Amino acid sequence: MSGKDKLRRFAAVKEFDNFYEPVLKEPFPLKGNWNRDHFKNDNPIVLELGCGKGEYSVGLGNHYKDKNFVGVDIKGARMFIGAEKALKDEMTNVAFLRTRIDFITDYFAEGEVDEIWLTFSDPQPKKPRKRLSSPMFIERYRKILKKGGIVHMKTDSDLLFEYTEEQIKEQKYECLELTWDLYGELPEKIDPITREIFHIKTHYEKLFTAKGSVIKYCKFRIHQ
Ligand SMILES: C[S@@+](CC[C@H](N)C(=O)[O-])C[C@H]1O[C@@H](n2cnc3c(N)ncnc32)[C@H](O)[C@@H]1O
Repeated sequence: MSGKDKLRRFAAVKEFDNFYEPVLKEPFPLKGNWNRDHFKNDNPIVLELGCGKGEYSVGLGNHYKDKNFVGVDIKGARMFIGAEKALKDEMTNVAFLRTRIDFITDYFAEGEVDEIWLTFSDPQPKKPRKRLSSPMFIERYRKILKKGGIVHMKTDSDLLFEYTEEQIKEQKYECLELTWDLYGELPEKIDPITREIFHIKTHYEKLFTAKGSVIKYCKFRIHQ
């Protein structure tokens, strides 16, 4: 994408009704009120953190009409793709938020979120603190997740996955599922919806799969 295209998309997405860009240091009116003021229902809220073009937010939104999805990323021009698709498809259960994930507790209230997806997060080889499964980030997720809330991670990265597996053990999170080869191990008997959602392919998943990476997945609870 050229610089000009990025600027055009970034300007356009700001006008979308399903896209929010909070003003730094100002109270965010949707905090604690996403369901009442944006989604207009009481359905569970699911976040995709580092959503890029938002394929998982849109894909999950299509499968689960009774849940609300918010894709979060710092790159507005990428989120334009998902936000535009959700608008064109008249999906009222998908929205996007432009922020650094580091500030996520400024935009969701305590216990407002039911589930978090981390899709192909940057492995941050030199900065473990900045990995989205590091204690610093998990503490933020703990604040906004409901008791018993779930974190899902799908990744190509051995480094990030090994680190996350260690964190689950060290921090005594409750591991619900963990596989180093999601598609190799996906059991035949799994229900059709779950099978389909695992096959939603993000932009980065397609890039990594083309290079031969094996896709890994885990699901854990941090309220223990
Ligand atoms: C490797 S890309 C994956 C994008 C998408 N999930 C996919 O699978 O195609 C990682 C994304 O996370 C975003 N990201 C990384 N760290 C972030 C942070 N601290 N706050 C907000 N976004 C972040 C980047 O902007 C980027 O879009």
